[in-house]
Amino acid sequence: MNDLLYVNGGNPLEGTITVRGAKNFVSKAMVASLLGESPSVLRNVPQIRDVAVVTGLLELHGVTVKSDPEAGVLDLDPSNVESAHVADIDAHAGSSRIPILFCGPLLCRIGDRPINYHLDILRQFGAVVDKRPNGIHLRAPRRLQGTKISLPYPSVGATEQLLLTAVRAEGITELSGAAIEPEIMDLIAVLQKMGAIISVDTDRVIRIEGVDRLDGYSHTALGDRIETASWASAALATGGDVTIKGATQPEMMTFLNTFRKVGGRFDVQEDGIRFWHPGGDLKSIVLETDVHPGFMTDWQQPLVVALTQATGLSIVHETVYENRFGFTDALRQMGATIQVYKECLGGRDCRFGQRNFHHSAVISGPTPLAAADIEVPDLRGGFSHLIAALAAKGTSTVRGISLIDRGYESFQDKLVALGADVSRD
Ligand code: EPU
Repeated sequence: MNDLLYVNGGNPLEGTITVRGAKNFVSKAMVASLLGESPSVLRNVPQIRDVAVVTGLLELHGVTVKSDPEAGVLDLDPSNVESAHVADIDAHAGSSRIPILFCGPLLCRIGDRPINYHLDILRQFGAVVDKRPNGIHLRAPRRLQGTKISLPYPSVGATEQLLLTAVRAEGITELSGAAIEPEIMDLIAVLQKMGAIISVDTDRVIRIEGVDRLDGYSHTALGDRIETASWASAALATGGDVTIKGATQPEMMTFLNTFRKVGGRFDVQEDGIRFWHPGGDLKSIVLETDVHPGFMTDWQQPLVVALTQATGLSIVHETVYENRFGFTDALRQMGATIQVYKECLGGRDCRFGQRNFHHSAVISGPTPLAAADIEVPDLRGGFSHLIAALAAKGTSTVRGISLIDRGYESFQDKLVALGADVSRD
C-alpha cells in the first residue's frame, strides 16, 4: 500500500463533509456487546481502521459481526462468545488499547481469560491475576463483587473498564474521580439500554448497581468531536470555510468558545456546524487542555497549527498527556516559531510540572508555513501535520499517511471534496 501523500498546499479548504460516530465511543460500544445475552445494533459507525481492529477482536472471541459499511451499521451477535488465544489477540490488535477493555466483560461472562492491563481495578472486583511467562492470566474464581474505587486521575479508559465490569458484578460499585467525557456518557446510555443501573452523581462519582442479565442494545453513536475539531482547525489554518454535517454543539461547546476567541466564526445548523475564517487577523490565546468539560487534549494538536497563523504569543499547557508536543518539530521545520517548556505555563500547576516533561508550548505568529517532507508520528499529530501541509505554500510529502486511517474516515476523499490538491503516487 502506498503510504505517502503529496499535498500541494496554500489553498483554503472549502465545502461540506460528513463526520460519523466517535472512534473513542464506537470501539467501546462494540466491546459492550459482549455483555448482552442477545444481539446488538450499532449505527453511525465510521469506516476506520480501529473499527476493523475491534471487529476482528470480537470475531476472535466468537462474536458474529455483520457490517454494512456504507450505511454505518454493525450487527453484533455474542451468543457464541468464547476465549481467544493471546497470540492471536496480540497479532490482531497491534498498538490498539482496546483489548484491555475486553477483560471485564469476558470475566463477567465466561470466567478465565488470559489477558492483561487495568489490573488494579479488576483485582478490586475480585479477579485473580497470575503473571505467567506468556503473559498475564485473569480469573474470576466467583462472580465479581461490587467495590469502592477512587481514581487518582479521571482516566477515560479506566472509567470505561470499571463500567464494563461493574454492570454485571454483584452489588454496588462506586467510582470516585471518574472521567465524564461525552463518549463515556454515551457508553452509559448504551449500558442502560442493555439493562444496567448506573447513576452519575455530582463531583465525578458514578454508582453502578450490578444486575444478573443484560440484553443487546440498539444505538446510534454520538458524532466524533475530535474529527470535527480537526476539520474546523484545518478550515481556520487554511483561511477556509467548511461545513461539517453530523457535528453537534453540546459536545463541542468548549472547543467552540476557543475557536471564537481565536477569531474563527461558526454557525450551528440543524444537521451540522459551519466553521470559517472571516478574514483579517487571528488572535493569540492562552489555553490549557483538561479532562471534560475542559478543552480536550485531542483538540490541541490541530488547533496549534491554526495558532501558528494567529498574531502574537499563544501559550498552550498540556495537562492530560506528558508528551504531546512532539508533533511541533515538523511545524518548526515548516517555519513555525514554537518553543516547548518543562514548566506549567499559562495556568495552574499540573502533575507534569517539575518532572522534565516538555508539556507547555509558546507559539509566536503569524508565520508563513513552507512545504516540507514530513513523517506522521501518530494519529492526531499526523492529522496536524496534514493541516500544516495544507496551509503551507508548495508541495509537501507526508509519509506514513495510513496511520490517519485509524481514526479519520475517508480523509483523502474529504480533502478532495474540500478542494485540496492531494495525490498519492
Ligand atoms: N493514565 C495512567 N494510568 C492508567 C491509565 C491512564 O496514568 O492506568 C494516564 C495516562 O497516561 C494519561 C491520562 O491518564 O496521562 C489520561 O489517559 P486516559 O486513560 O484518560 O486515556 P485513554 O483512555 O487511554 C482515551 C482516548 C484518547 C484520548 C484520552 C483522553 C480511546 C481509545 N482513547 O485514551 O484518544 O486522548 O482518552 O481523552 O478512547 C485518540 O483518539 O487519538 C486518543 C489518543
